[in-house]
Amino acid sequence: MARILITSALPYINGIKHLGNLVGSMLPSDVYARFERARGNEVVFICATDEHGTPAELAAHTADQKIEEYCAEQHDVQARAGEAFGLSFDYFGRSSYQSNHDLTQHFAAVLEKNGLIEERVDEQVYSVDDARFLPDRYVEGTCPNCDYEKARGDQCDNCGRLLDPVDLKDPYSAVSGSRNIEIRKTRHLHLLQSKLQDRIEKWVESHPLWPQLTKSIALKWLKEGLRDRSITRDLQWGVPVAHHGKTRPGFENKVFYVWFDAPIAYIAATKDWGDKTGADWESWWREDKGAGDVTYVEVMGKDNVAFHTVSFPCTLLGSQEPWKTVDTLKSLNWLTWYGGKFSTSEGRGIFMDQALEILPADYWRWYLMANAPESDDTSFTLESFAATVNKDLADVLGNFVNRITRFCKSKFGEQIPAGGETGPVEEKLFVELDNRIAAYTGNLAQMEFRKACAELRAIWAAGNEYLQEAAPWAVFKKDPEKAAVSVRIGLNLIRLFGVLSQPVIPFTSEKLLAIFGDQSTDWPQGKATELLATLRPGTRFTSPEVLFSKIEDEQVAEWKEQFGAP
Ligand code: MF3
Ligand code: ZN
Repeated sequence: MARILITSALPYINGIKHLGNLVGSMLPSDVYARFERARGNEVVFICATDEHGTPAELAAHTADQKIEEYCAEQHDVQARAGEAFGLSFDYFGRSSYQSNHDLTQHFAAVLEKNGLIEERVDEQVYSVDDARFLPDRYVEGTCPNCDYEKARGDQCDNCGRLLDPVDLKDPYSAVSGSRNIEIRKTRHLHLLQSKLQDRIEKWVESHPLWPQLTKSIALKWLKEGLRDRSITRDLQWGVPVAHHGKTRPGFENKVFYVWFDAPIAYIAATKDWGDKTGADWESWWREDKGAGDVTYVEVMGKDNVAFHTVSFPCTLLGSQEPWKTVDTLKSLNWLTWYGGKFSTSEGRGIFMDQALEILPADYWRWYLMANAPESDDTSFTLESFAATVNKDLADVLGNFVNRITRFCKSKFGEQIPAGGETGPVEEKLFVELDNRIAAYTGNLAQMEFRKACAELRAIWAAGNEYLQEAAPWAVFKKDPEKAAVSVRIGLNLIRLFGVLSQPVIPFTSEKLLAIFGDQSTDWPQGKATELLATLRPGTRFTSPEVLFSKIEDEQVAEWKEQFGAP
């Protein structure tokens, strides 16, 4: 049994997440976690809301709420939405919890002790009208790289480049819109990443199996040379720049930068999980306390990769403490909304709560994973969503289950019929399934989600093709024994589909297994011959309701209108 620690990039607290966020980290990590659990591995799957920084403050400001209140409320909203989507986190924490304050301050202290932190005086954007500094997203302006006019201080959403707010052209305040901007001096802590260049380079080289997208982003950063970066900000909300309860002199109105504390929250949330459940959290994170055999897997959108391959490792390795670092890093491209951007701030696209008001979670889970933006950005459209659901879920999977359970009920009653021996038509099915199940398992293990879903779809389709060929409804009149064989195999296929579909469409999987009162989700080990003999003749079943309803053209039209699709 392997031990696998999985973290999903932490969703920002500012509002419920859209489908692009969902498929960018939380959903794929969930599919992977479910798969590894089903194969019998020991999994700890951690997520949390990322609550500090300017997006949170700006959103609270817009909502006219106290930041603490806003975050508490939004955390619950996101926790509920995640649960409704079947996200199987072992713990969904908060980066604002005390544990993360403590750990963040701890890391800052050891990094400083190791000569990796220095106070420096910086130039920062200051808004005269707002009487405050404007770190990161508090300032917007024109991107110096691509001339996009709504670039944010920390990053340009158009070209993806990370920015320093003082580099923006024509800056204005995101709070008030004021262009009365000055550059003023302010003191900050800097993490001397330049000193860690060799260390990080060696560490990256020690991961030859990282996927292409991950590796190329890490190497690009290393090639440009790691730059020292400030890890504090002139803000109120965040982890105070203090140690053992004592504020660092001169840092009374400052907090740690959100990108410094957020990844540390992976660890802090695991600790909170341990405190809550009594589990030994350190055995997942500390090499000296048993984490030597843990495989640590991170899942995130591509804009997060630099932070996870360079910045966070600087924190961990720079501490010279035996913290676990990432082994496998899965990064995803963007899901677009009809080729454009999903946008939280502009409310563009479909958000998790809205999605579930329309259709159950598995419809979305299936579509999103089958079309996961892995090799490239992928466009979400309601048209293709409807087509995929109708074809894969309703016509292939749903129809199969419906046909075989109905036919069995009418001819043999609600139990697995006995019948005779399997023949060449079954042999053909067994061979195909053996190949496909192996491929599907391999794809999931590699986190190749699109390929995995294509295999799963083909496995369902193999069931339909088998029934087509075996044609028990035609055979029944002349040879009921023979028809019983294919019905028995067909019903066993439903159970097998239930097990195999579990990572991707867990709610449906539960329904499929419930047909036979069998909740075991153990990953198939043996050959198809045995797998399809699991349910013995005489086993009773309960015919299910229709599993999926087709999406009608009128519904698509209505939703396009509702969500302002182009
Ligand atoms: N909140 C960030 C985002 O949505 C991700 C933070 S990941 C962590 O882009 F490592 F910082 F936690
Ligand atoms: Zn740009």
